Amino acid sequence: MKTFPLNLEELQKIIKEYPTPFYIYEEAAIVNNIRKLKAAFSWNKGFREYFAIKSTPNPYILELFKSEGCGVDCASETELMLADSCSFYGEDIMFTSNVTSAAEFKKAAALNSIINLDDPSHIDYFIEYVSLPDLVCLRLNPGGRIYYKDKLIVDFEDHKFGFTTEQFINSVKYLKEKGVKRFGLHCQFGSHRNEADYFEENTRKLFEQVVTISKSAGIQLEFINLAGGVGIPYDEAAPETDIYAVSASIRKAYDEILGAAGLLPIPLYLELGIFMTGPYGYFISSVMHIKKASKTFLGLDASTNSFMSPSRYSNYHYITVAGKELKKPDCSYVITGALCENRDRFATDRLLPPVDKGDILIFHDAGAYTYSHGNNFNGRLRPAELLLCTDNSLRVIRKAETAKDYFATLDYPIKYGD
Ligand SMILES: Cc1ncc(COP(=O)(O)O)c(C=O)c1O
Repeated sequence: MKTFPLNLEELQKIIKEYPTPFYIYEEAAIVNNIRKLKAAFSWNKGFREYFAIKSTPNPYILELFKSEGCGVDCASETELMLADSCSFYGEDIMFTSNVTSAAEFKKAAALNSIINLDDPSHIDYFIEYVSLPDLVCLRLNPGGRIYYKDKLIVDFEDHKFGFTTEQFINSVKYLKEKGVKRFGLHCQFGSHRNEADYFEENTRKLFEQVVTISKSAGIQLEFINLAGGVGIPYDEAAPETDIYAVSASIRKAYDEILGAAGLLPIPLYLELGIFMTGPYGYFISSVMHIKKASKTFLGLDASTNSFMSPSRYSNYHYITVAGKELKKPDCSYVITGALCENRDRFATDRLLPPVDKGDILIFHDAGAYTYSHGNNFNGRLRPAELLLCTDNSLRVIRKAETAKDYFATLDYPIKYGD
């Protein structure tokens, strides 16, 4: 069973001050997880995690990564602004963008970020606006398709990201002529998987290409960035992701392939997002209406514009009914919000203990790609974000959106009423 760090009374006390819906993140659990990741990869000298800002773009969360010595992965100008505001600078920032504008390249260069280029055509585009740095990273599209247990996981033939191996080699040669001296390689083949054998097999394939590239282009890579994609179990019965096992499988491929080619040592980088914060954030909402029709519909005080993961990705999120943890889940519910679309569902035919109006629902594994995917469809506003600090105090790390925020970009006399 998945657990929540507060009991009903503690939660009710918080709700008195900060009405539902809101997100709440656990500081201590995030910090412990960062330390665990670093311990799991301590065998690799120079290992670094560049937290993927896109997953949980809140500066107070980024500060936790900063204080634990991590960098950040940015993909846009505003993410760079967030990084800058949290004092990330230079090689603490990995700018992994695609379809990038001149303004974004300029901002990334002004912060001395590591520029991770997505396409050969970006090289000359970049040079048009900014002078090339000493260190450049290129994103590799290794080609082919990745299957796991007969299921297609990544189709690199249909992927919009990265250089082909040939383009990579030619671009390194071109960049060398232009004065670039240090090179990094980036490749994401993880896609919400957490099985050690998945990582061993695919790291092995990638490292074989790294050997070809290093030899053909005549470079010793400064780092290999394996990016994101280590998944978390949403299912309450599944075991936690064993990051030590994932790391050990990567190490095996590292030693056997790169070691045999005489390329070691090479620092490994990651840009994990969901693994870092996903399990340590919760979405909290109260039951406002109970509609009995062909099925029983729980109408929450939130809609899926605030928490799109179940409707956008069909992700299953375990739900606790606060205070009813030990009751038998023998009632079936459709859990909905107020959007004018039928797929506005947090869960369909979900078994929960008998639910009453006013009950508080806790959605687990909501700490990544949840707030950040929010939108304002139907004029529905985004919720607050709270941080449960290590000393058990509570910090509002983002206020709930107001109608004023929603209308802020309209130059029109809006009638707010009372
Ligand atoms: C380039 C890149 N880095 C990092 C991530 C983070 O991935 P995840 O949250 O699955 O670890 C992503 C996610 O799509 C990505 O595209």
